[in-house]
Amino acid sequence: MSNIQKTLSIIKPDAVERNLQDQIKQDFINNGFEIIKEKKIHISKEEAESFYKVHESKPFYNDLCTYLSSGPIIVMSLQKDNAVMDNRKLMGATNPTEAEEGTLRKKYGISIDKNSVHGSDSSENAKIELDFFFKN
Ligand code: CMP
Repeated sequence: MSNIQKTLSIIKPDAVERNLQDQIKQDFINNGFEIIKEKKIHISKEEAESFYKVHESKPFYNDLCTYLSSGPIIVMSLQKDNAVMDNRKLMGATNPTEAEEGTLRKKYGISIDKNSVHGSDSSENAKIELDFFFKN
């Protein structure tokens, strides 16, 4: 049975800065994702804090929000069968040094902070995160 889902993907500042967005978008397309919506934006620290609120109590929260607001990002709505889990598989482990060969974070990530891409971790969070960036 098919399970068509949408998920939020962010191409983070480190990847946009290195001009990797077309390559990363092609990786998504090659892996069966359809890019339904996309926009290039530069968010404020306050917006980053709101987006990553779930990590508020973590020691890395402040640096994470400073980083996500440090330069332009590409936010995308990706669609395919099992998009949420398939995107997480394609991204690989959070820390690029632990990510499997062929995954986006292994290919492009620099560090646990500069790990090139973000993806929603559940279908519930995908709805919340897509609304965050794409609700009018
Ligand atoms: P992301 O999937 O965008 O979700 C939260 C981000 O916090 C994560 O990717 C990492 O880039 C960043 N981060 C920094 N330090 C840690 C850590 N120790 N554990 C998990 N995520 C971390």
